[in-house]
Amino acid sequence: MSISYKIVVFNQNTPAPARDLTQLHQTLLPTSPVALLGQGFMEQFYYHILPREGLICGAVAYIDGQPAGFIVATPDSIGFMKIALRRHWWRLIWVIGTSVLREPKRQGAIWEAWQIMRGRGQRPLTPTGEPETVEGELLSFGVLPAYRNPKFIRQSGLQISQDLFNRAVTQIQAAGIDQIRAIVEADNTPAKLFYHGLGWHLDRTQVPGWRTPTVEFVWRNTAKPDPAQPSFQALNKGN
Ligand SMILES: CC(C)(COP(=O)(O)OP(=O)(O)OC[C@H]1O[C@@H](n2cnc3c(N)ncnc32)[C@H](O)[C@@H]1OP(=O)(O)O)[C@@H](O)C(=O)NCCC(=O)NCCS
Repeated sequence: MSISYKIVVFNQNTPAPARDLTQLHQTLLPTSPVALLGQGFMEQFYYHILPREGLICGAVAYIDGQPAGFIVATPDSIGFMKIALRRHWWRLIWVIGTSVLREPKRQGAIWEAWQIMRGRGQRPLTPTGEPETVEGELLSFGVLPAYRNPKFIRQSGLQISQDLFNRAVTQIQAAGIDQIRAIVEADNTPAKLFYHGLGWHLDRTQVPGWRTPTVEFVWRNTAKPDPAQPSFQALNKGN
């Protein structure tokens, strides 16, 4: 089986393929709050501005030039949306406003996104009100069914989900983050088995703010961080 396989990493230095990410996100996770906020929100804000600012990063996999899977992560689970909101509130109001005018039922998605953002802030705080640890999060992840069935894997020898996962975790670790979370819908057995199989621990069996029942997995790096790498906290000081 001769196929061309490419993984394109995106981050602060490399622009995100916003259109491909939007298409994959809508196809694979159509009921996620980001997808429900609409194509305009994803293409013009979420996958356009956030990667440029270093608030999200990730990778897209291509098979024979076609998008096959994606992963999106943040080095700051609690802060990334708050920082984006503070820096670009006018743009966000415009994008979300036009999105709701087009489809008024999107108001429900705005409410859920707001509740999730509030829920993220409920982690332990230091006496000065800062989060105890800055944690990364795998925000969205998926591979199209055609590229994750046993036949394709056997014939191509590719395990795209594993490759995408490795790229995202490497990027988060490079930002000096040693703890990463992933929220999964409680009835998503393949995703739960995926994280469990990689040794991630089930940390919470209920995550506040979500419309559907969700669980949370966590991974902690016990190896020492590289002091030569600037940390995410250092890069975003003052925000
Ligand atoms: C989550 C996802 C990326 C995992 O990738 P994957 O390629 O399926 O990963 P794996 O092949 O390692 O499968 C994970 C486990 O689930 C099992 N599994 C796969 N499909 C399954 C199904 N329909 N029912 C039950 N178990 C299933 C696999 O056997 C494997 O278990 P094992 O490690 O014990 O063998 C993929 O399932 C996916 O794209 N899902 C749709 C989008 C999604 O739900 N994303 C997660 C939310 S962020």
